[in-house]
Amino acid sequence: MGTRIIGTGSCLPATIVTNDDLAKIMDTSDEWISTRTGIRERHLVKEETTTSMSAEAARRAMENAGVTAEEIDLLIVGTLSADCVTPACACEVQAQIGAVNAVAFDINAACAGFMFALNIANAYLQTGIYKTGLILGAETLSKIMDWNDRSTCVLFGDGAGAAVVRAEEQAGLLAFDQGSDGVKGKVLACRNRSNNNPLMETSKELEYVHMDGQEVYKFAVTAVPHSLQKTIQAAGLTVEDIDYFALHQANIRILQSVAKRLKVSEDKFPISLDHCGNISAASVPILLDEMNRKGMLKAGMKIAMSGFGGGLTWASAVVEW
Ligand code: UT7
Repeated sequence: MGTRIIGTGSCLPATIVTNDDLAKIMDTSDEWISTRTGIRERHLVKEETTTSMSAEAARRAMENAGVTAEEIDLLIVGTLSADCVTPACACEVQAQIGAVNAVAFDINAACAGFMFALNIANAYLQTGIYKTGLILGAETLSKIMDWNDRSTCVLFGDGAGAAVVRAEEQAGLLAFDQGSDGVKGKVLACRNRSNNNPLMETSKELEYVHMDGQEVYKFAVTAVPHSLQKTIQAAGLTVEDIDYFALHQANIRILQSVAKRLKVSEDKFPISLDHCGNISAASVPILLDEMNRKGMLKAGMKIAMSGFGGGLTWASAVVEW
């Protein structure tokens, strides 16, 4: 048994915030943000939530795949910004879309969350435990940004992406690589609620994302090419065989560096970060959906995907479309 992606969907919040909009409320500029990162604008939530965007992305993916909600028996959301501590975002999505036959749960692997969800679904599907998976990456990062820290808040956006995966005789997912390095976790972190037990001395400070951008950058430009090369080799392919590299959208300079290290044309690295910013777990599935809807993905094409970020975590996959 193999695992094939049979449909994609995505949902971005209605409100677009440009770099110039940010420059009105903090000491930054379109010039700094776009030259350092490639980001020009991002979508930020007003009314939307992680769950509402996920449910919409899920409906679009199911429609694209031609499957009903009842056919979904596995529903996984990769997120670090679910609306509730419990129930899981996946359970809320299950309720909203009517996926009554699914087992639903969230996983947190930060920006690699969708890729981890894909590999978990693959393991279930290959062993025959489940047959049709709905996997998502979804984030409302704007609620955990420190809007007084211009070095992080300008980088991130909100949104959700989804894919339907199915167990099929012919494998679509050819190879996978995953890894974590908890020792370096502090370079990109956001603490959860503090202890509020009235019997103890406690901190009432709200917690936001902190990032050592340069350390994360160094990690990305070494770990990602290595992981991609390993995965491509495991698939029995060479870098030249890959039609597109659908990578986590953190920074255009990271994508350019990976292209250079792999000796591949930057044209093979589609981007969405210019209009989405970095949406952590949602970046890869949103990019994949944009590629799918633009007609870029043809049967038989080889697509290498990779997610990397907080944890630290990374994961790559090579799929035959
Ligand atoms: O999903 C994975 C997570 N994240 C990433 O992959 C991010 C990886 N890292 C990066 O992309 C880059 O490190 C950043 C884009 C975050 C930062 O770029 P940098 O070239 O490493 O800049 P820097 O942090 O060294 O800052 C350079 C200057 C500083 O000013 P001084 O000290 O040189 O006077 C900052 O204060 O830029 C200043 N700066 C800004 N200026 C205008 C920082 N943020 C801003 C800003 N607008 N938004």
